Amino acid sequence: MAQEITVIGTGYVGLVSAVGLSDFGNRVTGVDIDAEKIERLSRGEPVIYELGLEDYLKRNLDSGRLKFSTDIQGSIAKSDIVFIAVGTPESDDGSADMSFLRHAIEDIAEGMDGFTVVVTKSTVPVGTNRWIGDQLRKRAPQGQFAVVSNPEFLREGKAVQDFFHPDRLVIGYDTERPEGARARGLMEDVYRALYLIETPIVWCNLETAELIKYASNAFLATKITFINQMANLAEACGADIHAIAKTMGMDGRISPKFLHPGPGYGGSCFPKDTKAIVSTGDNVGVEMSVIREVIRANDAQKVRVAEKIEKALGGLHDKTVAVLGLAFKAETDDIRESPAIRIVEHLLEGGAHVRAHDPEAMDNFKKIFGDRISYHDDEFTAIEGSDCLAILTEWNEFRNLDLEKAKRLMKGSCIVDARNTLDREQAIALGFSYTGIGR
Ligand SMILES: NC(=O)c1ccc[n+]([C@@H]2O[C@H](COP(=O)([O-])OP(=O)(O)OC[C@H]3O[C@@H](n4cnc5c(N)ncnc54)[C@H](O)[C@@H]3O)[C@@H](O)[C@H]2O)c1
Repeated sequence: MAQEITVIGTGYVGLVSAVGLSDFGNRVTGVDIDAEKIERLSRGEPVIYELGLEDYLKRNLDSGRLKFSTDIQGSIAKSDIVFIAVGTPESDDGSADMSFLRHAIEDIAEGMDGFTVVVTKSTVPVGTNRWIGDQLRKRAPQGQFAVVSNPEFLREGKAVQDFFHPDRLVIGYDTERPEGARARGLMEDVYRALYLIETPIVWCNLETAELIKYASNAFLATKITFINQMANLAEACGADIHAIAKTMGMDGRISPKFLHPGPGYGGSCFPKDTKAIVSTGDNVGVEMSVIREVIRANDAQKVRVAEKIEKALGGLHDKTVAVLGLAFKAETDDIRESPAIRIVEHLLEGGAHVRAHDPEAMDNFKKIFGDRISYHDDEFTAIEGSDCLAILTEWNEFRNLDLEKAKRLMKGSCIVDARNTLDREQAIALGFSYTGIGR
């Protein structure tokens, strides 16, 4: 049976979820405190760049199943199920900042009317969903609501595809309360479309669901950091990291995914989630030493790439660097914690001029760097007159960059390819000095 749903927060996760849940046939209202965002979404403007999102957004708005509103409590009152998808950014001490979530809980407590399932999609530290239950119990009698933990695993850049074809769904609920069982039934309805395509569904308690999310992100961050450090070792020893990673990946126990060396992980999840899990460990007296070291090594990797550029140019003062790629990864306009931020900052501190291009992320980058760097609509205008070409994001269009043309346009002849996207042999044959990662 189709459900009446409110999704609180219409950022990456909330918007994709609202669109996807309405596509499954549910009636969904996406609500947000950002009135401008709600206005644009209501007009069918997706506000973030994600492949396919605009079509799904328009289709579901047209069907009448999807709408957007700033009337948060009003929408909650009409809903059987309320998804929370507000941000849980890093706070000053590294723990997750729960202020957005606390506000959302206040709205739910004020607004809910009749039996309501409160589903947390935001990434929250272990224990948060029990705390949500305690808060709601102060306002609503027992039995009037249930709390569910349904962490989200979508990858930015592939968010729509991941929503409709997830590797698994994780649904944690209060296994000891009768309302927990009722919530489980409603969640089965919400996700019936995914159940029908045989998506594995992991039913577990609230704490297990919360930790599955952190464990998964911390493991992936560790895998990236491991291969980056191995790449640095390969460089120092004259080995080729690509052959090493490829061969490691042939071992079924290891798998080839997340073994691509680069300038360090970034984005809105890995940096904050690794710090939050270390903080959780501190709170309960468990030393998360592996993850603590991953955070340090990842930071060092960004600096290492900046220093490669500096070394390749023999100093930064008055040099011009064309930076291709600002987003933290390809196929997204998200620059949160992007390695490009740290690297461009280093270049500017050293007195270099930066000419930047990114297919989607320039507007967001401008919000941080303003006119301290110049922005160019295509890669060749950025490259023109530069001493060094640095590739920081693995956009497909950079893979086939016309290196002959680049050579003609550049003043200097140095390439730092932090994603190993270019044809190294061709670059060298054209007279470039080429620096990659781990080869
Ligand atoms: N971005 C990802 O790839 C990803 C993947 C999996 C999980 N997550 C997790 O999902 C959560 C959301 O991440 P995001 O990237 O979508 O965040 P985001 O910052 O893009 O979006 C959050 C939205 O919530 C809104 N908001 C904040 N407080 C609100 C309130 N009280 N009421 C209504 N709206 C409110 C904000 O205006 C914003 O539009 C985080 O916990 C994150 O860790 C993110």
